Amino acid sequence: MAKKVLVTGGAGFIGSAVIRFILQNTDDCVVNIDALTYAGNLESLQGTASNSAYTFEQVDICNKKELVRVFSEHSPDVVMHLAAESHVDRSINSPSDFILTNVVGTYNMLEVAKAYWSNLDKNKQDRFIFHHISTDEVYGDLEDGELFTEETPYCPSSPYSASKAASDHLVRAWFRTYDFPVVISNCSNNYGPYQFPEKLIPLIINNAIEGKKLPIYGAGDQVRDWLYVEDHAEALYKVVTKGKLGQTYNIGGHNEKKNIDVVMTICNLLDELIPLADRSYTSQITHVEDRPGHDKRYAIDAAKISRDLSWQPSETFESGIRKTVLWYLDNKEWCVAVTK
Ligand SMILES: NC(=O)c1ccc[n+]([C@@H]2O[C@H](COP(=O)([O-])OP(=O)(O)OC[C@H]3O[C@@H](n4cnc5c(N)ncnc54)[C@H](O)[C@@H]3O)[C@@H](O)[C@H]2O)c1
Repeated sequence: MAKKVLVTGGAGFIGSAVIRFILQNTDDCVVNIDALTYAGNLESLQGTASNSAYTFEQVDICNKKELVRVFSEHSPDVVMHLAAESHVDRSINSPSDFILTNVVGTYNMLEVAKAYWSNLDKNKQDRFIFHHISTDEVYGDLEDGELFTEETPYCPSSPYSASKAASDHLVRAWFRTYDFPVVISNCSNNYGPYQFPEKLIPLIINNAIEGKKLPIYGAGDQVRDWLYVEDHAEALYKVVTKGKLGQTYNIGGHNEKKNIDVVMTICNLLDELIPLADRSYTSQITHVEDRPGHDKRYAIDAAKISRDLSWQPSETFESGIRKTVLWYLDNKEWCVAVTK
């Protein structure tokens, strides 16, 4: 049955992939709520604005009154809540926006959605679900050989991950206290098209082709578990349509890589695709002082979503990173437009 899906943060990296996935693969309608911060760009949804199944509302999730209006005007069947401040480095330098959007904004979303849900007719109420999208960073640092499961205790290290952990706790409390129908997913690092150029992979690609330095924190031996964003979008749609109420699903790509190896892979691809006459792109690599509180390793055990919701990623890191590098080479105007 076709649904109306209210997506928050739909002009961001993952939110725009979710909207493209829904409009291309289902009969659902989408209402996109986004404040259009520096990280939100309608250029990431080109071609979508004219789709009759899509509506955009420029609304800040910290504005409760506007949220009430949007819920009442659009009567969504389900909510996918992605809007957040998402960049760890920015959270270290100015945490206040992270507390406001990620904690207070999520609280507003829960309160407004709960009031809306309590007044729905029984049929619609039974189908309603609030899907909170979160990160594996809430679990903190991992030793070699360990994996994050849905039972791993929370131990966030940065202001970003602490604010996301706080929002996850609020969502679980609304389920436990008010029987408000929620589901949570915690995902590993995403990469792919339309990622804001300050994040590691697009930053390295853009700096490399512009002849700039390729900064690596410390020795670059931090391990992250990389997932192609379109695989994440498909997983999120499975969670919101098939996930069990009150449950958490970890989402990951089984692609553990050291940061330095990610950068080397990008350089090797650029050496193949747009070679320089006299040297390799690896010559631009520069080691810089490590980020304070930098977690050493993240890795996801995605057995539950695979078993219960039959989800598997389609891309390997090798196939996904090649697609990503090609996309950034072909979409330089997008990078210029969003960083202006
Ligand atoms: N990027 C990753 O690797 C990753 C991994 C796991 C989970 N997540 C989570 O997925 C979600 C989306 O991440 P992303 O990488 O797409 O982030 P992003 O920074 O690319 O996009 C965030 C979007 O939220 C919007 N936004 C920010 N503050 C807002 C506010 N107050 N009101 C309304 N809109 C606001 C921005 O304009 C932007 O469009 C976040 O909740 C993040 O914690 C991200």
